[in-house]
Amino acid sequence: MKKKLLALFTFVVLALLIAACSSESSGDADGKTDDAGKDSGGGDSKGEVEIFSWWTGAGEEDGLLALIELFEEKNPDISIDNAAVSGGAGTNAKAVLATRMQGNDPPSTFQVHGGEELNKSWVAADKMEPLNDFYEENEWMDKFPEELIDLVSSDGNIYSIPVNIHRGNVFFYNMQVFEENEIEVPTTMDEFFAAADKLQEAGVIPVALGDKESWTATQIFENVLLGKLGPDDYKKLFAGEIGFDDSRVVEAAEQFGKILDYVNEDHASRNWQDSAQLVANGEAAMLNMGDWAKGYFANDLDLETNVDFGYFAFPDTDGEFQIITDTFGLPKGVDNPDDVKEFLKVLASVEGQDAFNPLKGSIPARIDADPEKYDQYGKDAMEDFKNSRLVPSLAHGSAASEGFLTKANQAVNIFVTQRDVDNFIQALVSAAPEM
Ligand code: GAL
Repeated sequence: MKKKLLALFTFVVLALLIAACSSESSGDADGKTDDAGKDSGGGDSKGEVEIFSWWTGAGEEDGLLALIELFEEKNPDISIDNAAVSGGAGTNAKAVLATRMQGNDPPSTFQVHGGEELNKSWVAADKMEPLNDFYEENEWMDKFPEELIDLVSSDGNIYSIPVNIHRGNVFFYNMQVFEENEIEVPTTMDEFFAAADKLQEAGVIPVALGDKESWTATQIFENVLLGKLGPDDYKKLFAGEIGFDDSRVVEAAEQFGKILDYVNEDHASRNWQDSAQLVANGEAAMLNMGDWAKGYFANDLDLETNVDFGYFAFPDTDGEFQIITDTFGLPKGVDNPDDVKEFLKVLASVEGQDAFNPLKGSIPARIDADPEKYDQYGKDAMEDFKNSRLVPSLAHGSAASEGFLTKANQAVNIFVTQRDVDNFIQALVSAAPEM
């Protein structure tokens, strides 16, 4: 009997030892640790999620950091590598991303604009996982506006999740400067130029510009285009149904040139934040910028919405909403897709969106977020989003391919210094087949 008990005891101890060893080695086999000893995740492992974006520095990173903090609270066993590359609108990040994607070294997830930047670059190259099942499982299909889901879809597959909606056709202005110079908010380009003349006579820079990175000037041009063409023809232009030699595009180029007559002389040495500072300190009166500038004014410069700075739709585009959406997807070939999906779930949640967007200046992409978390600007933008015609931004990747955008930015850059309308139009016409 004693012998039998001893044998049973030995068997149990051995069995426990084997189980302990095999669970350790199955951790390795799962891919938690690769040959280089580097944590490389694995289907069900708890690893590291690398988030690639261009949100560094003032006015850009506060929202992302809040989202990361929320994620870490909820997922203490998954670490985050914040791999942001500075440069507004992805000026530098997009090139780094392209190299990595081509080298089959994708980040776990990366910032990408809904629309052509996602579809023509990464979906067309078969680099993204479809997320339809993920949307269904999490019941997101009716939580995001249909237009947004369309922007992140191609051939019936959904490829990313929008974290926000920014608006690009906004002018921010210094309220004190407007008041002192008795300027009314302009709604048409004629009123705008009248206001600009008055400000210039008073010694104030009418329009702040920082086109060290040329997308800021491209953004002004696209808004002028929208005003001249209206939302339907603006979309037709980028669908290739209207040519860039259309007379209204020529007029838009002329008007764009006229706006450039009112900007600060040192525009080429400033980035967008530097140009926003001119408005903040009253040297300049107005700034056309996506509403990440709202985040910058309110959170970084401590200015008060509707007290220190006001806002109005880019003249001639009231009732229209130049839509910019930052989205994140799941690249093919990442080691730990389940961990990445945990991050995407937080980013897609009401809680995640309401942590991110009030700091970023954008409105939530989800329709069921809490408006009370947003200031008056955010509340107004939410209303405008519901009641406006939505159009895709060129400068921020939705309207056309990266190839076309690169050429358009170059053409804009040359136009800003040379002001040759014919050359500018010709450059756009030649780039159009790449749209
Ligand atoms: C946009 C992006 C925004 C903001 C901006 C300035 O392309 O969608 O979130 O970061 O660039 O860098």
